[in-house]
Amino acid sequence: MKVLVVGSGGREHAVIRKLKESAWKPEIICAPGNGGISADAECVEIKATDIAGMVDYALSHKVDYVVVTPDDPLALGMVDALKEAGIPAFGPTKAAARIEASKVFSKNLMEKYGIPTAKYEVFESAREAAAYVRKENTYPTVIKADGLALGKGVLIAQDEAEAMEAIRTLMVDKAFGESGTRVVIEEFLTGIEVSVLSFADGETVIPMVSSMDHKRALDHDEGLNTGGMGTIAPSPYYTPEVAERCMNEIFVPTMKAMKAEGCPFSGCLYFGLILTENGPKVIEYNSRFGDPETQSVLPLLDGDLLKIMMACTEGKLEESMVSWKSGAAACVIEASGGYPGSYEKGKEIFGMNRMGQLDDVTIYHAGTRYEAGKYYTNGGRVLGITATAPTLKEALEKAYAGVDKVTFEGMHVRRDIGAKALKGIKE
Ligand code: AMP
Ligand code: GLY
Repeated sequence: MKVLVVGSGGREHAVIRKLKESAWKPEIICAPGNGGISADAECVEIKATDIAGMVDYALSHKVDYVVVTPDDPLALGMVDALKEAGIPAFGPTKAAARIEASKVFSKNLMEKYGIPTAKYEVFESAREAAAYVRKENTYPTVIKADGLALGKGVLIAQDEAEAMEAIRTLMVDKAFGESGTRVVIEEFLTGIEVSVLSFADGETVIPMVSSMDHKRALDHDEGLNTGGMGTIAPSPYYTPEVAERCMNEIFVPTMKAMKAEGCPFSGCLYFGLILTENGPKVIEYNSRFGDPETQSVLPLLDGDLLKIMMACTEGKLEESMVSWKSGAAACVIEASGGYPGSYEKGKEIFGMNRMGQLDDVTIYHAGTRYEAGKYYTNGGRVLGITATAPTLKEALEKAYAGVDKVTFEGMHVRRDIGAKALKGIKE
């Protein structure tokens, strides 16, 4: 069985590693992949957003199944195009991917179906948006671009001046292009954030173990927002009681809502949650696996990922397919100096073996390039050093021991991944 995985990050590396464990022994191809992925799968030079190129490749190379993980190709309709060409694919249709690609769509969905989320208003005019913020006069306030903006379209304003600046950046200067044509202005929520990825087949939803991302660039949640600097799984804040509420108040209602809107969700549905005083609420949905959540969630999966994915595509997902290992996982990101701002590429990475790995931990490669026996940095987030262990504390110790062995010039690592959660457990 030939399986093509679309994408090039640590998330894709984690998906590929798990797919390789499948009883169906698939032959795996990745487009475009990266240096570390090339040790696990054949990499082919097709851009993740090249829909026609991907369909042509899949047809001409007799690919049996395609796994589409990044947000852009999903929003552009890659799964629809593959299906039209007769190739089954994991991931939502273009219509269902709007749950991530349009904040206006997802906020209106939640309002219509009573799914708990922050109060909000939608604006198409910068003048009206500014008037609303002045009238509300409540800070912090959250200003979000409607469309995909490389994870940078959410601005939190601490006062009126910052809010005006945010509206100008998104709507007038169009810093993120057309994604800022409309904005959502919403209430600022406080609480612990939890990520819950789930398998969905259009009807049934099965949550994976919970996880916790660390989005800011620097220790103690300071510095700029990034794609994520490290994750732990499961999140100790996500108790069985919280999980039950989320299932009843958020996960199942979201699946029903998508079906009722004529765009049932199939693939990985990611719930970005915040545990407020008034219960769990949705901060955002993603129409795909999270990065780097996937790197700490999938190592704990006890089921056959390929069978689960195919069941999602075929609408035949069953509880019995998905089980979880006990214990915990931690993933610490090694990033290029300067990330999420500008950074240099092409630094040689020292400390890994020929396969780009270490003995005790798994290294998921994100921005790396392989050439003549050596690995070089090739992106902002470079490596995700990941460990599993019976306890979170041990998983973190193991992951950081790995981090200490692998280095490159200018490397930046957060030293406090999981620290808050560990403290939370003790208290
Ligand atoms: P997003 O890109 O939607 O994940 O948002 C990025 C980050 O902004 C989230 O992880 C939260 O930390 C923060 N955020 C988004 N919306 C809100 C909100 N309504 N209240 C508080 N924080 C928020
Ligand atoms: N780590 C957050 C995301 O994948 O959107």
